[in-house]
Amino acid sequence: MSSKEELKKTAGIHAAKYVKNGMKVGLGTGSTVKYTILELGRRIKEENLEIMCVPTSIATEKLSIENGIQLHELSSLDGLDLVIDGADEFDKDLTLIKGGGGALVREKIIAQASKQMIVVADDSKKVESLGRFPLPVEVIQFSWKETRRQISQITGLPESKIEKRNQNNNSFITDNGNFILDLHLETIENPQKLESDLNKLAGVLDCGLFCNIANIVVLAGKNGLEIISN
Ligand code: A5P
Repeated sequence: MSSKEELKKTAGIHAAKYVKNGMKVGLGTGSTVKYTILELGRRIKEENLEIMCVPTSIATEKLSIENGIQLHELSSLDGLDLVIDGADEFDKDLTLIKGGGGALVREKIIAQASKQMIVVADDSKKVESLGRFPLPVEVIQFSWKETRRQISQITGLPESKIEKRNQNNNSFITDNGNFILDLHLETIENPQKLESDLNKLAGVLDCGLFCNIANIVVLAGKNGLEIISN
């Protein structure tokens, strides 16, 4: 296992400690929270942990079922106690960029349904200023080119830097049946304003900026674990 993978594993397993018997838990998406999911599966099997979980993606749904985790419909649970999820970048205010895996909309819905959001990350995700990681925006297929033109207008970003995401030479399609546009901004000065401007466009479902949502980051670095809270 590479040292980065070890860090992801350390953060992912540690975050599972926040999960207690009887909790309603959102399960994030990605290669870091994968370790949280495996650890929860282990505790269910070996320690009779009883929890009710909601997955943030089809990939997480599959992984959870493989690990013996009982899943529920979000609508049947009347809110969640916490969600544990990864991030592509986070800053000192715990504002996040998410959606590298394309699950940003369900991730934000589940984060907003949760009393607490715990982020799991290795130290490469901590940044001074957000935006080096391309900002994912989920857009309706029908109007994606027009939406790209409008995003270019409101951000001043040339259309050549607003890239439709592809996978295996085809358009990447989200779990909700939409496209992703990745915005190569390099730096984001005002994440709240950008989130609100983007989300005003009818063709935009949501963007990967998570402002004032995360409460704790469980960060693994080569000097050990750091718990950052707001
Ligand atoms: C999925 O859409 C993303 O938001 C992930 O949570 C994010 O990309 C972090 O994933 P990794 O833990 O794989 O880096």
